[in-house]
Amino acid sequence: MANKLVLLMFAICRLISTVGLTLEPAELLQFGVEGQLSLEPADVDRASVDFGGMTRAEPMAVMRPASAGDVASLVRVAYGSALGFPVSARGHGHSINGQARAPGGVVIEMSHDRAAGHRPRSRPVYSPSLGEYYVDVWGGELWIDVLNWTLDNGGRAPKSWTDYLYLSVGGTLSNAGISGQTFHHGPQLSNVYELDVVTGKGEIVTCSEEQNSELFHGVLGGLGQFGIITRARIALEPAPQRVRWIRVLYSNFTTFTRDQELLISLHGTHRFDYVEGFVIVDEGLINNWRSSFFSPRNSVNISSIGANGGVLYCLEMTKNYDDSTAAFVDQEVEALLKRLEFIPASVFTTDLPYVDFLDRVHKAELKLRAKGLWDVPHPWLNLFVPASRIADFDRGVFRGILGNKTSGPILIYPMNKHKWDERSSAVTPDEEVFYLVGFLRSALPDSGESTQSLEYLSQQNERILAFCDAAGIEVKQYLPHHLTRAEWARHFGAKWDRFIRLKAEFDPKGILGSGQGIFPPPSSPFSSLSPDEHSMTR
Ligand SMILES: Cc1cc2nc3c(=O)[nH]c(=O)nc-3n(C[C@H](O)[C@H](O)[C@H](O)COP(=O)(O)OP(=O)(O)OC[C@H]3O[C@@H](n4cnc5c(N)ncnc54)[C@H](O)[C@@H]3O)c2cc1C
Ligand SMILES: *[C@@H]1O[C@H](CO)[C@@H](O)[C@H](O)[C@H]1NC(C)=O
Ligand SMILES: *[C@@H]1O[C@H](CO)[C@@H](O)[C@H](O)[C@H]1NC(C)=O
Ligand SMILES: *[C@@H]1O[C@H](CO)[C@@H](O)[C@H](O)[C@H]1NC(C)=O
Ligand SMILES: *[C@@H]1O[C@H](CO)[C@@H](O)[C@H](O)[C@H]1NC(C)=O
Repeated sequence: MANKLVLLMFAICRLISTVGLTLEPAELLQFGVEGQLSLEPADVDRASVDFGGMTRAEPMAVMRPASAGDVASLVRVAYGSALGFPVSARGHGHSINGQARAPGGVVIEMSHDRAAGHRPRSRPVYSPSLGEYYVDVWGGELWIDVLNWTLDNGGRAPKSWTDYLYLSVGGTLSNAGISGQTFHHGPQLSNVYELDVVTGKGEIVTCSEEQNSELFHGVLGGLGQFGIITRARIALEPAPQRVRWIRVLYSNFTTFTRDQELLISLHGTHRFDYVEGFVIVDEGLINNWRSSFFSPRNSVNISSIGANGGVLYCLEMTKNYDDSTAAFVDQEVEALLKRLEFIPASVFTTDLPYVDFLDRVHKAELKLRAKGLWDVPHPWLNLFVPASRIADFDRGVFRGILGNKTSGPILIYPMNKHKWDERSSAVTPDEEVFYLVGFLRSALPDSGESTQSLEYLSQQNERILAFCDAAGIEVKQYLPHHLTRAEWARHFGAKWDRFIRLKAEFDPKGILGSGQGIFPPPSSPFSSLSPDEHSMTR
């Protein structure tokens, strides 16, 4: 199949580049493209949009690879043709700003058909040199499926997570992959030993710290610019059985951040396993979409807490345990909580299986889907804020720009920079401790002038960025979205020169990842066939 496809694409590209002939999509089909390469409107449509729901850009075709060889074959066609055409890997399409698109080119659906199970993956393997287990998985595998697989095959699990598990391994490793475990284990990209990568020249390269290390570090956090990850070797640990999950509230931001920073500074076993937090500016938020937490039994009466209508901050942490440690978890948690200065009446505790904790956001997704509130525009903004300026950020944004209606959860939690591998392409502020602040908002379609309209929320994001600029707060966007080369250069800072050099080396024709808008896309032989990229925002 792959050979047939390659020959076919070669033939098409030769025709186009040598004779200047243009093809209609229907003619592509006459060449017998079927199976892996789809021109079906439903497939093309799905690959044109993403979770952000704000932009639309149609690829010419969609590919469903069964192996790294298939991916390499397609990229070689693009690389071998005179002009080249864009090829983008798409994980689960959970980007916000069209990062996985390939206007006029081919989108490779890495995570398609999760049930098929034909994707290469290993049983967990013990490595004597590493002193621990790892698992090899397909780059398009979703984290939820990795978890299920490693639990069922020896009771182990990856160490570092995202809050939501219906994301692809290749997609999160191309960014960082962060959550409440990051302070201790580092982001997901710090927990990978080896990758197989299909470069922009169509070569399949195995890379690690020892082998092809430039490519290895470049691809991690590399926004899909240097290669498509087809295999990742992921570090495992024994999975705990249960989780004690605690939330406490603060009205004093100084105390809140001091306590968060205390918790992420603890090493060894006497620490929490997960530290996050969020900002509450309106009472509705306490029952936000992530919150299966505050049950009726556990309900929160904000007025009784005495915040007097001001902003509240919720610190969230967990302690893992299993049968052998269950006897100690209460005293362990109590000893840690004693060190914190939250509002005394505001301790909320729940206890659940480890898997249910990791998969917590999916439950909220199902509820939102049932109400038709999942497939709405998501003008999300994620920022890394240096700890030295987080109080200024609070005054200017949480107590300023935000107003009293946020249209979605606002996450805030600190991380330690030394847990990030500086050699990766991921970009963080120039300070040992920095915060993720995530504005995870949902716009309501047809909400006109209201504070929940896409226009209002998008403008508010701009105001937040402008505020940081004016106040000299050196934030870095996580899951970055920039429009000009100068902005990208500023984003990457000291890493920009290397980024450009790696691009020239591994994807000289700019075939890969053009949806990120960092480098100009190759001129597409198909571009005359596809409608120009158009934006649904005004
Ligand atoms: C509900 C929700 C919750 C989230 N929670 C978190 C969180 O807690 N922590 C966190 O870190 N992030 C989180 N994210 C963001 C998420 O990490 C990004 O959306 C990321 O892009 C992964 O999504 P995806 O696998 O669908 O990738 P896509 O959006 O499909 O792709 C993202 C980028 O990676 C490229 N890419 C995809 N696959 C590959 C591959 N195999 N090789 C090379 N490049 C590839 C694409 O071309 C694109 O540029 C969340 C997103 C959503 C929607
Ligand atoms: C993994 O998935 C299979 C099939 O859906 C299911 O039977 C099994 O219970 C799951 N394992 C875990 C640990 O969730
Ligand atoms: C918040 O806590 C800090 C540190 O304990 C204290 O100095 C400050 O006065 C408190 N602020 C308010 C508004 O109570
Ligand atoms: C919440 O607390 C306030 C102040 O203690 C009280 O007056 C109010 O009745 C409480 N509301 C509910 C729903 O319990
Ligand atoms: C929220 O803010 C709006 C606009 O500033 C204001 O009109 C409204 O009274 C506020 N509501 C509350 C509950 O503070």
